[in-house]
Amino acid sequence: MKKKKTILDFYEMKKNKEQVTWVTAYDFPTATFAETAGIDMILVGDSLGMVVLGYEGTNPVTMADCISHCQAVRRGAHTWIVGDMPFMSYQVSNESAVENAGRFIKEAACDCIKLEGGIRVAPRIRAITDAGIPVIGHLGLTPQSSGQLGGFKAQGRDVKNARLVIEDALAVEQAGAYSLLLEAVPPELTKFIQEKLSIPVYSIGAGPADGQLMICGDLLGMFQAFTPKFVKKYADLARIETDAFKAYIDDVLTGRFPEDQHVYHITDSPEAFAALFEEYK
Ligand code: KIV
Repeated sequence: MKKKKTILDFYEMKKNKEQVTWVTAYDFPTATFAETAGIDMILVGDSLGMVVLGYEGTNPVTMADCISHCQAVRRGAHTWIVGDMPFMSYQVSNESAVENAGRFIKEAACDCIKLEGGIRVAPRIRAITDAGIPVIGHLGLTPQSSGQLGGFKAQGRDVKNARLVIEDALAVEQAGAYSLLLEAVPPELTKFIQEKLSIPVYSIGAGPADGQLMICGDLLGMFQAFTPKFVKKYADLARIETDAFKAYIDDVLTGRFPEDQHVYHITDSPEAFAALFEEYK
């Protein structure tokens, strides 16, 4: 098993220009597979709302949902695990933000938390780091504020908007976050921020950076309706699973399943069983 990475490793990897690999997982088996494959970090994202709970966005996801899925992932992996703070778990006050961040560490054995936003959540980042909890900032396309952004749209594509992302990135670092995730911003902006900040800067749909994140459902091909531009599919699980279910249904309907190899055989003689059945006739 690969040695678990720590914050010090992540800083060292940035210094040595070594890539960090990062993927989301929401359940025990996926966490196990990702760890066995050699992943560096696992995010239990609030994207679980869309990937596994069937919501249209991430905002309905609750602390209870996140904690329960983080616990399942922790049971499957000893890798560095990032708990994602759901909508309204950190926006209200520093106190409730620290309390909720603490739940990820105490109840689900996460290694750190991630939250969305820059200048406006800087006091929360400071309060959570002051409580001894490592924080990852998240800027660019921030799904929890997609309403304000006008939808799930790329950010920082013009100078005015890029300036806002830069100001937010500086605020995130200054508030004490140990790393930053940029989502759906142009690679030029990512490169500038990666070089400007001393903390690791990771990317999801933001071009090359100190490491890459992908949503497991995207890379495994679990969705048929929509694939974002920045996704590279490494499998077609939707097709594999649907074909498997079809084959099973067909086998049951045509009597090809179950076969002799799928049943438990009696351990007493057929005559003894015949006598038993006779008794109950
Ligand atoms: O919830 C999540 O998976 C995320 C990614 C989209 C970055 O926050």
